[in-house]
Amino acid sequence: MLSFDAETRKLLDVSYQGADITRRRMANMDALAPAPGDTLLDLGCGQGLMTVDLARAVGPSGQVIGIDPSADMLEGARQACAGQDNVRLVEGGAGALPVADGTLDGAVSLQVFEYVPDIPAALEDLRSKLKSGGRLVIGDMQWDTFSLASDDPARMARMCRAWEQHVAAPDVPAQLPALLDAAGFRLIEMRPLPYVSVTLRPDSLVFMLLHLMRGYARDNDLMPAAEADAWFAEQERRAAEGRFFFALTHVIAIALRR
Ligand SMILES: C[S@@+](CC[C@H](N)C(=O)[O-])C[C@H]1O[C@@H](n2cnc3c(N)ncnc32)[C@H](O)[C@@H]1O
Repeated sequence: MLSFDAETRKLLDVSYQGADITRRRMANMDALAPAPGDTLLDLGCGQGLMTVDLARAVGPSGQVIGIDPSADMLEGARQACAGQDNVRLVEGGAGALPVADGTLDGAVSLQVFEYVPDIPAALEDLRSKLKSGGRLVIGDMQWDTFSLASDDPARMARMCRAWEQHVAAPDVPAQLPALLDAAGFRLIEMRPLPYVSVTLRPDSLVFMLLHLMRGYARDNDLMPAAEADAWFAEQERRAAEGRFFFALTHVIAIALRR
């Protein structure tokens, strides 16, 4: 489990408003191509940052349904979407969506499917909720593209193995083409969004990841605290010396309901 104390929440707030994660959100929104009057689903809406953007895009004649299993996240979404009358926020999860069949023009799920325990069931459910020809956008990291330069590759490999345990599926993009086809979708594009950082900016995706990875490995006893701290300190040192390098690929799958 990822645990979020007050300091981590602050870090997440800064990163989620930062350029890297904003770019990811905008790329997934573009892929969904919202139109005025659409009824859209934001599955795993989190704090509602894309939900509110979608609500503005579909306008008063459209509707956006934000669904998340976390009451805390939904509270954040409620604040983000305050005053937006065309948003419905509901507690729920993938595979059991509280939405009527055949009513959605489109659905987006950003950085959520890696946590979903039964992806085929989630896709089948989404298919039943979409109209014929409805658009599905799923954006996730392909975690085996994660690269962080280090003088201690063995320790880096141990940290990456530990981090992969925070998700149910570290390779959602690689799984999706076959799973989408089997669930009755036509895949039309796999759109890559590459991340590369050579500095450690406090608002960056990698700054957030370094903190989350160290915390996850320590809190779940996947690595001795001293080793996790040394792993983290190496990256700060490399950044100070101008030797920092990070790369990771997010992939946006765009599919239509057959
Ligand atoms: C990394 S956050 C992404 C939030 C949001 N989509 C965004 O990009 O800002 C992952 C979200 O997925 C939600 N989540 C986890 N498991 C889920 C499931 N089985 N079904 C739906 N949402 C889930 C979490 O509660 C969390 O809000």
